[in-house]
Amino acid sequence: MDDSKFFIIGANGQLGTALREKYPNARFADVGQLDITNRESVENFDWSETDIILNAAAYTNVDGAETDEGRKAAWKVNATAVSYLVSACLEHNMTLVHISSDYVFDGTVDPHTEDEDFTPLSIYGQSKAAGDIAVGTLQSHYILRTTWVIGEGKNFVRTMLGLAEKGVSPTVVSDQIGRLTFTSELVRAIDHLLTTAAPFGTYNVTNSGENVSWAEITRQIFADAGYDSLTVGDISTAEYFAGKSGIAPRPLCSKMDLSKLQATGFKSHDWHDDLADYIARQEQ
Ligand SMILES: NC(=O)c1ccc[n+]([C@@H]2O[C@H](COP(=O)([O-])OP(=O)(O)OC[C@H]3O[C@@H](n4cnc5c(N)ncnc54)[C@H](OP(=O)(O)O)[C@@H]3O)[C@@H](O)[C@H]2O)c1
Repeated sequence: MDDSKFFIIGANGQLGTALREKYPNARFADVGQLDITNRESVENFDWSETDIILNAAAYTNVDGAETDEGRKAAWKVNATAVSYLVSACLEHNMTLVHISSDYVFDGTVDPHTEDEDFTPLSIYGQSKAAGDIAVGTLQSHYILRTTWVIGEGKNFVRTMLGLAEKGVSPTVVSDQIGRLTFTSELVRAIDHLLTTAAPFGTYNVTNSGENVSWAEITRQIFADAGYDSLTVGDISTAEYFAGKSGIAPRPLCSKMDLSKLQATGFKSHDWHDDLADYIARQEQ
């Protein structure tokens, strides 16, 4: 594919960074160069050289979105701005690749398929669901619905490695169940959908492998990184957040059915393998 016709938005985030690596000839911008919440900036942007917008921009602070300021920002970036991108795609005949989240569901269905109804619990989840609805009005779109993203940036694996370095044996939530999604897996899936010209629409994308809790993932992180003397305690989500205010409700089941993506010929990577590679790279 001619990646010089790609435009990456939110280029400095975890996914944006991985997309820039994969598509070195793509043009890109982060909020400093193109603030997608500014309607005029999106309308007046020179899209003449772009065939495909890869939207990696989002307001991703799940608890922050529960504040007055955060609620406004989440809705602006995750919903209203996405409608501006949809309008630009319609006007300039571009395809939109967009990223959704398991937080658009309440976590009571096991596993999640692409046609499940929206039931978001949190403001972040509501704003992401609204963005998905806007993207769905465009014919030429791919929505990749993902969970627990790990790449270059602040993320769960790095937080746990940081605790381990300090010798902390943490207590970790053990009743939210899902899989990690490395940005490398998201980029492979985006590239696969585009290069095979798969039917437009929504696809669940996570790494494959056993669905487990955050506590079990932490045990695997510590095993891979050689912190054999540290232990990981289990705690329920309700107990973990008891007495804390401003915490967004989280779906307990984040298990994603990957069969639609795999039916297009995509071979998912097991999260255990990508985690081991990721930890080896952190140690270099
Ligand atoms: N992280 C997860 O666990 C997770 C789980 C499920 C789904 N997702 C989805 O996956 C996608 C990628 O997530 P990620 O982890 O890569 O996010 P991320 O690291 O937080 O990156 C988001 C990027 O968007 C930029 N951005 C924010 N507001 C913007 C605006 N108005 N205009 C342009 N850019 C703006 C941010 O810039 P600043 O940093 O300067 O604000 C940041 O560089 C998102 O759609 C997210 O909702 C993530």
